[in-house]
Amino acid sequence: MTASMPKIIVITGTPGTGKTTIAERLKRKINGAVLIRATDLVNKKRFYSKVDKDGVKVADIQKLRKEIVGKIKKSDSPIIIIEGHLVCEFKIKGAKVIVLRAHLNTLLKRLRRRGYSLEKIRDNLVSEATDYCGITAAENYGDVYEFLSDDRRTMKYIIALAKGAKQKKQNINLMQELQTLLKRDREYVLYSNPEK
Ligand SMILES: Nc1ncnc2c1ncn2[C@@H]1O[C@H](COP(=O)(O)OP(=O)(O)OP(=O)(O)O)[C@@H](O)[C@H]1O
Ligand SMILES: [Mg+2]
Repeated sequence: MTASMPKIIVITGTPGTGKTTIAERLKRKINGAVLIRATDLVNKKRFYSKVDKDGVKVADIQKLRKEIVGKIKKSDSPIIIIEGHLVCEFKIKGAKVIVLRAHLNTLLKRLRRRGYSLEKIRDNLVSEATDYCGITAAENYGDVYEFLSDDRRTMKYIIALAKGAKQKKQNINLMQELQTLLKRDREYVLYSNPEK
C-alpha cells in the first residue's frame, strides 16, 4: 500500500448509463489513475455463484468486493477509479461515489442498440426510473453524487469531484419520464397481460 491512502472513485449506475465511457475519460484526465472495471473482473475471474431461473448467471458480489479491496491494497496509484453497476451493492471504504443516471429515452435507445431483450430493457428502464442503484449505493456508502450522463457539464463536475472539489448534490427524478413511457410504449414499462 502507498504511504497515503489512494483516492477512490466509484462510478455506478444502471447498465447503459455510460459508466465505462465516463470512467475511461476520467482516467485519461488524471495522471496516474488506474481503472478497475468490475464487470470485466466478474467475467475474467468467473465470480458467479449460481444461475437464476432464466439461466442468467448471478454474480457473486462478495468475491467481487474482496478482489477489488485486494487490488486497492496492492496498488500504489494515487487514484483508483472503480466502475460497474454491481459496485452499488457493497461498500468500498473511503470511496467517493458517483451514480450515473440517463434519461429513459436515451437509455432505451442505447439498450435497443445492444440488442437486449424486451424484458432486459424493461428491467433496466424501471431500475433507472426508480433509481435502484442510487438508493442502494446511498444505503451502502451513505453519501452519493448523481449526474446525468447525457448532460454536457457532467464530465467537468466529475473531474472536479475526483480532484477533491465539493459539488452540489443534484436531485434527479425520472418518474415522470417513466409515466410518459408507460403511455407511449407500455411494453417497456409493464409486463403485458396475456388475457388481452
Ligand atoms: N455521454 C454520452 N453521450 C453519448 N453517448 C454515450 C455517452 N455515454 C455513453 N454513451 C454511449 O452509450 C452506450 C453505453 O455506454 P457504456 O458502455 O459506457 O455504459 P455502461 O454504463 O458502462 O454499461 P454497462 O453497465 O452495461 O457496462 C455506449 O454506446 C456509449 O457510446
Ligand atoms: Mg460498462
